[in-house]
Amino acid sequence: MKKIAVFTSGGDSPGMNACVRAVVRAAIAQQIEVFGIIRGYDGMIRQDIIPLQSPSVSNIIQRGGTILKSARSKDFMTYEGRKKAFESLQAKGIEGIVAIGGDGTFKGAQVFFEEFGIPTVGCPGTIDNDLYGTDYTIGFDTAINTALEAIDKIRDTADSHDRVFFIEVMGRDAGYIAIQSGIAGGAELVLVPETETKIEHIIHTLEQGKARNKTSEIIVVAEGDEAGDATTIAAQVKEKLPHLDIRVSVLGHIQRGGSPTARDRILASRLGIAAVQGLVEGRSNVMAGIINDELVYTSFHDTIHKAKPIKAELLQLIDILSL
Ligand code: F6P
Repeated sequence: MKKIAVFTSGGDSPGMNACVRAVVRAAIAQQIEVFGIIRGYDGMIRQDIIPLQSPSVSNIIQRGGTILKSARSKDFMTYEGRKKAFESLQAKGIEGIVAIGGDGTFKGAQVFFEEFGIPTVGCPGTIDNDLYGTDYTIGFDTAINTALEAIDKIRDTADSHDRVFFIEVMGRDAGYIAIQSGIAGGAELVLVPETETKIEHIIHTLEQGKARNKTSEIIVVAEGDEAGDATTIAAQVKEKLPHLDIRVSVLGHIQRGGSPTARDRILASRLGIAAVQGLVEGRSNVMAGIINDELVYTSFHDTIHKAKPIKAELLQLIDILSL
């Protein structure tokens, strides 16, 4: 393999830059020419592809976002779009790809390989941590620390005003950010899409808290909770407990930005190098991941189709810790 390309795609996550840097440096170490594709699959279609050298990725390990930009491409979902993308890569002589993103990114890469035979190795880049085949995804650690900082601050004001706060964190399909930031932030309850949310249980918990002389309470809600978002759930609770002073805080995209934590930088660096190594070894349609501190490659098929459930033990912790 003489020429490869790297891109970032889907929702950005802190540590993507560290991963791009690792890919570029790993390619250089193997005497492989490396290109950056701007705005993911959209850039591939539009031939927005630039050569990257070692200095191109200097001074980015600490930066949030992605220097390669990111997008969710509609055009790549069509065969015509993918054909154009293939022609762009062919024109540059690119023989392999490192795709940094989530399951949507890998779904695209899988179809692309089946149609045009260009091998792709993936790196898990999403704050949601919802990818099978790795204990942690790049950006998750930073996101939970960002959420935690916000929860701590909200707790200060909740306490001053004797309020109940519903704090909505990201996680469209998964409650990883909610459960981890909730445990670390001392939440009374954590509501996640993986378990059924019952309004009666929330009411019971809040009443129990009051009976134990709690003056303020924090409920962390994953945005994708099956009972609705934090605003919807808070409104239902307010109806039943009108005397409570309830507020809702939606943390939103703040969780996607910021300088990556040491953990995310190290994870991104290991996985970026592993992805290039994987391509050199002739792997394709696999995601590099780390499980129990060991590097593993998991097929895109499994990454996309297999679930990575939240440990029930973590969910049970909240009940004890909030007593
Ligand atoms: O997949 C990452 C994620 O941040 C989800 O947690 C969230 O639901 C979604 O992206 C938001 O996407 P967008 O930036 O397109 O609004």
